[in-house]
Amino acid sequence: MNLKKTAAEKAVEAIKDGMCIGLGTGSTAYWAIQKIGERVREGLKIEAVATSVASEELAVQLGIPIVPFENITRLDITIDGADEVSPQLHLIKGGGGALLREKIVAANTDYFIVVADESKAVDTLGSFALPVEVVPFASEWTKRRLEASCPDVQWRVKDGVKYITDNGNYIADCRYGEIHDPAELEAMLNSIPGVVDNGLFVGMADKVIIAKSDGELDIRV
Ligand code: A5P
Repeated sequence: MNLKKTAAEKAVEAIKDGMCIGLGTGSTAYWAIQKIGERVREGLKIEAVATSVASEELAVQLGIPIVPFENITRLDITIDGADEVSPQLHLIKGGGGALLREKIVAANTDYFIVVADESKAVDTLGSFALPVEVVPFASEWTKRRLEASCPDVQWRVKDGVKYITDNGNYIADCRYGEIHDPAELEAMLNSIPGVVDNGLFVGMADKVIIAKSDGELDIRV
């Protein structure tokens, strides 16, 4: 059973004609985009924006109408994945590096639906290293500031070189261990000059759909 596909397709049921939709990033959002593409080919009339170059390219291939951000004031629904989901519906995101665009899009959405398989549901956030997006300028100084609060900070590396986000920045993966006050940590990290944003999404999710291996859906609002 493909749990990511199951959760994603359930979320797509909420999309109706005339809506403006935010498309997430990652291997779960992939299935939502596929299903939206299928519904568009069947006649669904929507407009969409994407949270990454990869998701935009996929949407275009599938015939989903992508519009400039300037053409839309507010999104009706965004569907996106997560790396961890807490019982309070706080999230860690950014495993795919798209956290900044994902947070901007989620923040400008009326109804933000998170889709995940059961492996993403945790009691306390923090087993997954928290991605922090950092501008390249003086980035080692910013990393030292991060290390003042975190015991394990690693630059994300891809193909032997520092990973670069769609926005031209680096990602520092920060292992804090258990995060008991995500709102405080989110605000503290974003107060460090050089940090653009971090992967804590606090109080942003309106609904979380978790597909479980027993075939049930765990829907949290
Ligand atoms: C992308 O940057 C991320 O926030 C993803 O939404 C998150 O990593 C979940 O990805 P998967 O659906 O691939 O697990």
